This record gives sequence, structure tokens and C-alpha cells, in this order.
Amino acid sequence: MSQDKQNKLWGGRFTESTDAFVQAFTASVNFDQRLARYDIEGSVAHAKMLCQVGILSEQEREQIIKGLAEVLELIEAGQFEWSIELEDVHMNIEAALTERIGIAGKKLHTGRSRNDQVATDIRLFLREQLALIDSELTRLQQGLVGLAGANTDTIMPGFTHLQVAQPVTFGHHLMAWFEMLKRDAERFADCAKRVNVMPLGSAALAGTSYPIDRLMTAELLGFTKPCANSLDGVSDRDFAIEFCAASALLMTHLSRFSEEIVLWTSAQFNFIHLPDAFCTGSSIMPQKKNPDVPELVRGKTGRVNGNLVSLLTLMKSQPLAYNKDNQEDKEPLFDTVDTVLGSLRAFADMVPNIEPVKESMLKAAKQGFSTATDLADYLVGKGIAFRDAHEVVGLAVRLGTDTGRDLSELSLEELQSFSTEITADVFEVLTLEGSVSARDHLGGTAPNQVRYAVSEAKAFLAAKLK
Ligand code: ARG
Repeated sequence: MSQDKQNKLWGGRFTESTDAFVQAFTASVNFDQRLARYDIEGSVAHAKMLCQVGILSEQEREQIIKGLAEVLELIEAGQFEWSIELEDVHMNIEAALTERIGIAGKKLHTGRSRNDQVATDIRLFLREQLALIDSELTRLQQGLVGLAGANTDTIMPGFTHLQVAQPVTFGHHLMAWFEMLKRDAERFADCAKRVNVMPLGSAALAGTSYPIDRLMTAELLGFTKPCANSLDGVSDRDFAIEFCAASALLMTHLSRFSEEIVLWTSAQFNFIHLPDAFCTGSSIMPQKKNPDVPELVRGKTGRVNGNLVSLLTLMKSQPLAYNKDNQEDKEPLFDTVDTVLGSLRAFADMVPNIEPVKESMLKAAKQGFSTATDLADYLVGKGIAFRDAHEVVGLAVRLGTDTGRDLSELSLEELQSFSTEITADVFEVLTLEGSVSARDHLGGTAPNQVRYAVSEAKAFLAAKLK
């Protein structure tokens, strides 16, 4: 019997030792050691339950709890020696425990398998990360609401096709981002409900012949309930896929937001200033200040979308129950968590420090005939059919383009040459302020409505934080 074979926790039925490359190829300890804390939390609960049902003595339970605490301390101090021969986080920890406390350590695995153990660990990990993501999302939303509240009257051009369309308020524009993030937070909260169900007790796949108490372990670990089917419990990773799907949508939103920030900070737009802390310079062009943070978040959306596809493809066509394929769930999941948390943190720090350049926004809104629709609506109010009004405004816009003037800069006589229905009161609707204030209904861009949306959002966030 080789030394290698003797060290294996599952070596009993083997006569040859594992090929060295295969050992390294199949090991997961290099990445799943990140689950150590949750693995130990799960083991402590399992040991308490095994004692409660009479499988472990109280003394064994105490030895296990104390031994695991020591192992955790070593791990957290960075002094634990992870070994690739022991394959994964679960067997590394169990071996270290047994080395410390002897026979009681060998009893810990009674009535469970690494299959239900790992599924439980991931859920404990993800549950914690979901709470962190939720608080960073809330922080970002608070930043948006604060900036929106300070800019309920700030006028900017609204765009369709990236062409100036109609004037909007900057506050209204920011609150659109708030709404998207609100739905993202809802998706994560919904996903968290399904994450918080406990596979432990499913054992390898069929359950166990020991008289385990799954309600007890679920309660100890803060799960809402044990999973109802052991085969499902050890094998499905739909909760992780759901998380990655919600993350992909969040990152897609952040990528759109990023794109606007990149555009707005360009000299051509010059709509906002970003503080230096969120930008970097160029090693060759001394004049440059690049919006690296939003650019990077935009770019990182790619890996998060990729991780979703990885997990979907990993799960696709897997027969019941556990398959080793599932070991591949961790890296995409960890990467998604890290990318989402990092991106949210960067945005939550950055957004409250965005400074609008109000003059530039106003100037841009004046340039694109953004009140053309208002003139058409005005003519409709005078009894002209919308299509005819559209035609009249088109002629006025052409005169403006030819002579380099906005609609509000045309004379009353010039406007009347297109329609005799136009009178002096037309200039009230041709101003940008008049245009935005006229959109005074629920969900509209009028400063009034934006103030209302901001106060609703503040109340919503306050209730959430209570
Ligand atoms: N390292 C494995 C994983 O991440 C743990 C479960 C292994 N189970 C097994 N029967 N080989 O999925």
C-alpha cells in the first residue's frame, strides 16, 4: 500500500494510488477553501444534531466543536496547510480535525456525504454574500436619490437614438437608474428565498439510515426548511444559476449607466465631472483624465454574463443526482459575487460625487429643437390635427436649422407664416422649463413629479433600513 493511498479518506477500496496529474486535476481545494468557514458552521450543527439523536456522546460533540474551532482559527490566521492530496476543503478540514481529536473526528461524517455538505456550504456562503450585495445596492440607491433630489429642476436633453429628443430633468434621468436597481434588488431578494433551503441530510443522494433530525440542523443553521427531496438537494444548482442571472441583469444595468457616464464625461458632452479619485491618467497623453471605473464596470459585465452561461451549460443534461461536474460551479459563482460586489461598491462610492455641469446640459437641450413636440401639442390644442401639426413644426425646424436658431428664437411672424393659429403665448411652451413642467403626471419629468418620486424612494429606502 502506497503512502498516498493510505492518506486518502476514501482509499479503502483502492489498490493503486491516484495518478499525480489526476490528483491535481480533480482537486478543488485551491478554490473551495474559500468555503471553510461555512463548512465548519455546517459541521458544528451536524455534530450537535448527531449528539441530540444519540449518535455522538456529549463528550465527542464537545471535542468536535472545540477541534473545529481550532482548525478555523488556523485557517483564518493563514496558517493552515492545505493539501491537494486531500482533494477538497471538506476532507482537508476533516483530516485536520481527526489529527487533533482522534476517533471522535472520524465519527463526524456519520449520516452525511460531501454531496450534501458542499451543497449546504455554497448556500450558506451565497446567503451571506446576498446580504452584502443588498446593502451595497441600497447604498448606491441612496446616492442616486440624493443626487436626483438635488437636481429635480436641472434641465438636460433627453435622448432617443442618442439624438436630442425632448428636454428632461437630470433628477428624472437619475431616478430611471434607481428604478432599475430597485428591480435588481427584488430579484436578489427573491433568489435569497430559494437559496435559504437546506440540502444537509440528503447525504450522498438517497438520505441516510441514521435517525437524523433535519429540522434541528435547519434551525441551527438559520435555513427556512430542509429541502424536500434528497436527490434534488444534492444535485441542483438552480439557486446559483438564478443568482448569476440576477447578477447578469444588474451588471447589464450598470453597463448602461457606465456608458452614459463615459459619454457625459467626454469633452463633447461635458455633462458631468467625476472626481479624480475615480479616474486615471494616461502614461503618454498628459491632458487625459479617463473614466476608468465606469469603463471597467462596463467591461466586467462580460465575465458575469459568461458565468451565467457557464453554469447553465454545466447543469444542462446532468442526470440525477450529484455529478462531479458540479465541482465546477464554484469558480463562476465566486467570480460573480466578487465582480458584483466590487462594481456596486465602486458605483456607490462614485455616484454621490458626480457633479453635473448644468450650463452644458442646458446648452445641449437648447440645441436639438427639443421642444418641437411641445409646439405640435400646442397646435393640437388650437384644434389642428396632430399629423398636420407635425408638418407645420417640421417646416419651422427646417427654418431654424437653415438659420442656426432654436424654435424659441424664431419670431412670432416667422412662426405664423407656418400656421395662423400661432399666437404670442406659444413662447411659453417653447422654453425648456415650460416643456418639462408640462409633463406633470405620475412618472413624468416635471420637477414636481421628480420631487414626488424622490420622496417616495427615500421613504422606501428608510423603511427597508428600519
Ligand atoms: N469537491 C466536491 C465538489 O465541489 C465535493 C463533493 C464531492 N463528492 C464526491 N462524491 N466526489 O463538488
